[in-house]
Amino acid sequence: MAGDGFNTRAVGSGEIKDEKYGNVVTPIFENATFIYPNNNSGRKEDTHTGDSYIYSRWGNPTVSALEEKYAALEGVKNSLVFSTGMAAITSLMLSLDLGRKKVLSVIDLYGQTLSFFKNKFTRMTGTGVDLVPTDTLNNMTISSKEYGAVYLESITNPSIKVADIAKIGRICRDENIKLIVDATFASPFNQNPSGMNADYVVHSGTKYLNGHSDTMSGFIGSNEDLNLQFDMRKNLGGSIDSLQAYLVQRGMKTLGLRMERHNSNAMAIAEFLEENSNVLEVFYPGLEDSPYHDIAGRNLKGNGGMLSFRVRGGLEGARKFLFSLKHVSPAPSLGGVESLATLPVDTSHGSVNAEDRKIMGVTEDMVRFSVGIEDVDDLIEDISNSLSQIG
Ligand SMILES: Cc1ncc(COP(=O)(O)O)c(C=O)c1O
Repeated sequence: MAGDGFNTRAVGSGEIKDEKYGNVVTPIFENATFIYPNNNSGRKEDTHTGDSYIYSRWGNPTVSALEEKYAALEGVKNSLVFSTGMAAITSLMLSLDLGRKKVLSVIDLYGQTLSFFKNKFTRMTGTGVDLVPTDTLNNMTISSKEYGAVYLESITNPSIKVADIAKIGRICRDENIKLIVDATFASPFNQNPSGMNADYVVHSGTKYLNGHSDTMSGFIGSNEDLNLQFDMRKNLGGSIDSLQAYLVQRGMKTLGLRMERHNSNAMAIAEFLEENSNVLEVFYPGLEDSPYHDIAGRNLKGNGGMLSFRVRGGLEGARKFLFSLKHVSPAPSLGGVESLATLPVDTSHGSVNAEDRKIMGVTEDMVRFSVGIEDVDDLIEDISNSLSQIG
């Protein structure tokens, strides 16, 4: 039995141990199909169907093990894993039945989530979406007369704004509005939104949960039942393969250790950047002069491994910095053990129009940095040398 501590749950929860074999770690059930009906008295049931496993698009034992481990870390009763974060987000949103009410979402979204809301969701469901900046959402009154759901990213991509879930969650609970939180940037180590009245938590497991930049996955966690979302996963087919699920659950065992290092490395780098004359602005909630410092204190257990900053010299200066780095790869994505840096205008927010970018605070001179677990002195030396190339 896993104990209560985060790392104990990360290592021990959800593991499938079969006394017949004496295996210590969860096996990979690389099976598309299973004997069905399975009338064996010792059969294992898929928690989502209450029946034996039948076909891996429905469910698979290795995937169930991963779902149980994630639920233990998120502190929720139920969870579903998907092939990607976008499969989780779209399957969740398409499962909601909000009647005639709209969704209120932050506009500061991962580019593909924004594209889904703007170009597909309303067309497919008839449900309207109003988009507001995170700062507006943090300070507005939200009425259930208009809205059936609120959607937000708890630390936004790439401007590192922090949503005040503690406050928004209370409003949503009192108004009976569903609150959906993408907590990818925080990870379940730094934040458990369900404890702040979020009805559904989503993650791109491609990032911190897996932590090794080598496989993709998506998660939904909730204390509500996830029957509709399970059904949507079957329909849309965003199910994860068992080999992929195995890799993610292996990565999750070190989530706590990795996040401690991500948190401390990012803080040291943010402090270094603040003092560098080639850096115009640093976005990191751990900094005392960040406008999100107090909100982060109420909403996060750690400030995370993601930071952004603006450099001198515009797009050219930012590109020069990026391609001068030696220990840090110039690549999109985030949350892996290795540091990555990218220019949001070239990658994650390349598809976002100029007007929306302005509202989100995404500029051409912005570098988004996913701070890895390398030795921080080496990272700072690399960053310092590369900044000096700007001139
Ligand atoms: C905050 C956030 N949510 C969702 C996603 C989508 O996840 P995936 O790429 O696993 O589909 C991303 C991807 O970068 C992201 O940054």
